[in-house]
Amino acid sequence: MNSKFNYDKISTAYADLVVQDPSKRFAQYPWALAQLPSQVCGLRILDIGCGEGSLARVLARSGAFVCGYDNSIEQIRQARLEEKKEPLGIEYIHADPIDIVGKAPISPFDISISVAVLHYATDRTHLEAFFSSTYQLVKPGGFFAALVMNSDFKRYEQKLYNRIYRRQPGGRLQADFLDATGVRCTADYLDFTHANYEETAALTGWKDFTWCPVKVTDEGKAELGSFWDGFEEDCPYAGFRVVKPLE
Ligand SMILES: C[S@@+](CC[C@H](N)C(=O)[O-])C[C@H]1O[C@@H](n2cnc3c(N)ncnc32)[C@H](O)[C@@H]1O
Repeated sequence: MNSKFNYDKISTAYADLVVQDPSKRFAQYPWALAQLPSQVCGLRILDIGCGEGSLARVLARSGAFVCGYDNSIEQIRQARLEEKKEPLGIEYIHADPIDIVGKAPISPFDISISVAVLHYATDRTHLEAFFSSTYQLVKPGGFFAALVMNSDFKRYEQKLYNRIYRRQPGGRLQADFLDATGVRCTADYLDFTHANYEETAALTGWKDFTWCPVKVTDEGKAELGSFWDGFEEDCPYAGFRVVKPLE
């Protein structure tokens, strides 16, 4: 299994999409926020694969000290532009899990969060780097929560929500992001299994692996109704949480 996709290719289109994407607004980010304490003020939070920084800004506006890293220089450039427009003290770093340790200015972190990123690991070794670097950067007793693509998902090759998920030869998957005119941009990633994530977390020292279901918020259901048919039952995403044991 190998994937070399980089968000530099689709950064502008993806950033436009993120702002209004129902999946981000009513499922992915609410999932992430539900994993965090209700008060994040004063907490140090690492946002892995922060993209253009939407989630980082939500956390920083609530008083968290946030550091986001991403391996797409375009995504980081857009995040820094937003930080200029609305200074929130967020540090954005151009990095990969291979080189983030030592670059992060405010470690150790209380919490690390990652939304829709780990399945872009290029192979199992790279996936391990996401877990092991995060383990080094989070304090003992801290935790890591990640939303990933759900390997049990079934409805490929259909228009679902504002995406079409496709199976590619060689174990790759593809998400076509749709807008009113058709496919706006495409991302491809690897089909890591639930067991892959569980085993890699255990291998790198994390404990208490827990899968945490992804739900649509009541606001999202009220606004978009049948848009969400089947979403929770056959969810494109799966989320988990792991804890770094106290020494
Ligand atoms: C689907 S986007 C999610 C962005 C953001 N977390 C959000 O939810 O809005 C995936 C992000 O992961 C980043 N990414 C993929 N592989 C990465 C890697 N090896 N290291 C750091 N970031 C990576 C991409 O550049 C992209 O910004």
